[in-house]
Amino acid sequence: MNILVTGGTGYIGSHTCVELIKAGHDVVIVDNLCNSKIEVLDYIKEITGYTCKFYECDILDREGLQKVFTENKIDSVIHFAGLKAVGESCAKPLMYYRNNISGTVILCEVMAEFGVKSIVFSSSATVYGIPKEVPLKEDFPLSTTNPYGSTKLMIEGILKDLYNADNEWDITVLRYFNPIGAHESGLIGEDPNGIPNNLMPYITKVASKQLPCLGVFGNDYPTPDGTGIRDYIHVVDLADGHVKAIDHMDGYQVFNLGTGVGYSVLDLVNAFIKVNGVDVPYEIKDRRPGDIAENFADATRAKEVLGWTAKYGVEDMCRSSWNFTVKALERKSK
Ligand code: NAD
Ligand code: UFG
Repeated sequence: MNILVTGGTGYIGSHTCVELIKAGHDVVIVDNLCNSKIEVLDYIKEITGYTCKFYECDILDREGLQKVFTENKIDSVIHFAGLKAVGESCAKPLMYYRNNISGTVILCEVMAEFGVKSIVFSSSATVYGIPKEVPLKEDFPLSTTNPYGSTKLMIEGILKDLYNADNEWDITVLRYFNPIGAHESGLIGEDPNGIPNNLMPYITKVASKQLPCLGVFGNDYPTPDGTGIRDYIHVVDLADGHVKAIDHMDGYQVFNLGTGVGYSVLDLVNAFIKVNGVDVPYEIKDRRPGDIAENFADATRAKEVLGWTAKYGVEDMCRSSWNFTVKALERKSK
């Protein structure tokens, strides 16, 4: 199939392009490069031997998208393009609503105009809000605690309404838990600018001595070691989930993509230190506002319907994250 990947040069998008190409699909990428680099295209080519067709285009740019659909016969869209920083979304909510929600509406309008009614959407476990119980199932109540999460929840609602209005659409919503890790080549991975918000990029910055010390946000949660528990999932497994989703488009569907296993902050830090033989100094800090104690997925539905389960364990995630960091630093120093 010919798949349009919005946000395809980003962290999850680039890994998904690799897995799509490996599965025999053709890939067209649309990205405005606001949070990714053009070199990613070369790396995808180096890994797969395949050259993705690329459009530097904002999904808010209707004419730009129309050109993409005019020049390519697209069968299905995987829609990653979006802004994702929780803190920034609190400071600049309108930017998030415009980019994520208006962008998705324009994309769907252009898709409908060209008769392409098949879309996989990147949602997030953040739509479960403050969970009353874990593991989280797809039919649990939804709510959000920040504008970024609200954009995801609103887009889910928009896509559901779209399907209800026109059953010709096939819409799959994937709720990701915490993607970490990188492709084994060390060519693509997560490399945020500045001080990272998320745990694994922070750990790799400390391990590579670009930052002095990791702050562990709270050790008084009701968890075995007091630190927050999350369902970390290898980005290559997540990418594979998209390939499976594309193979099983069937009306409106929602799936959790997680491993079903929760690790605490200290579990992850200790696994990273052990697997990679590097030091990660840390100190306990106050809780981060808005954080929840624990979340992990019930991923049974994805297993039963998509035939998907996560294959990689936390050690693979830690090893590949560090491999990518080391190789990225080598590339930068050349
Ligand atoms: P990313 O920032 O690496 O990738 C997003 C890509 O979209 C970037 O390449 C960026 O340049 C592009 N983009 C943003 N706005 C655009 C626009 N208006 N037009 C065109 N391109 C645009 O992020 P990621 O981690 O790969 O996340 C991909 C998707 O998955 C996002 O929608 C994100 O909200 C969602 N998600 C991510 C996580 C996570 O922890 N990484 C968790 C749950 C959901
Ligand atoms: N943490 C630290 N120190 C840090 C960063 C994080 O102790 O420097 C802790 C957090 O308190 C939390 C855990 O590490 O307990 C994970 O935090 P992340 O920021 O890596 O991830 P979150 O679970 O907070 O959120 C991420 C994405 C959201 C997404 C959510 C669910 O940032 O956008 O996963 O998919 F919605």
